[in-house]
Amino acid sequence: MSLAKLREEACTCHNCDLYKDATQTVFGEGPASARIMMVGETPGDQEDRKGAPFVGPAGRLLDRAMGEAGIDRSAVYLTNAVKHFKFTERGKRRIHKTPSRTEVVACQPWLLGELGEVKPELVVCLGAVAAKALLGPSFRVTQHRGEVFDLPDSAAKVTATVHPSAVLRSDDREKAYKGFVDDLAAAYAIL
Ligand code: URA
Repeated sequence: MSLAKLREEACTCHNCDLYKDATQTVFGEGPASARIMMVGETPGDQEDRKGAPFVGPAGRLLDRAMGEAGIDRSAVYLTNAVKHFKFTERGKRRIHKTPSRTEVVACQPWLLGELGEVKPELVVCLGAVAAKALLGPSFRVTQHRGEVFDLPDSAAKVTATVHPSAVLRSDDREKAYKGFVDDLAAAYAIL
């Protein structure tokens, strides 16, 4: 199935209940010929409103880090393990919630479809949810960050780093950011 067809079908996905409260499906974006695919967790508040991945604060940090690591965002296919925003309302704010394993599994056909179409040489998992989605629920980013694996059922290599939101939340943001840039640069060097 082409990326366009996958996107169209994902727009009416009812594989889990997250579509009920989200504004829209946020499908992946980037060239179908991308050599690198980066996989995040779920769209955030701004991504849910705009319908595009990584366009909020985490996306801005990711853009800056990619730039410093020598990676051109426009050459990367960016997507998420889960395509609908999961949140809880606190007053007027919508607070991100981590998707459950069931929701990740329900969304897996879209991620696997994207992998099958883009056929990247390298997949970078941004955070634990993406890493567990592709490498299994027992994968621990804290233990295996930066290691390179063969992606099951694919010719791609896969590696995992922290999520850009974790950098934003870090007590030592400068150190966390540097570690994140270093991970992206090391991942890029695999190509
Ligand atoms: N966080 C993610 O994991 N993905 C996005 O698209 C935005 C924030």
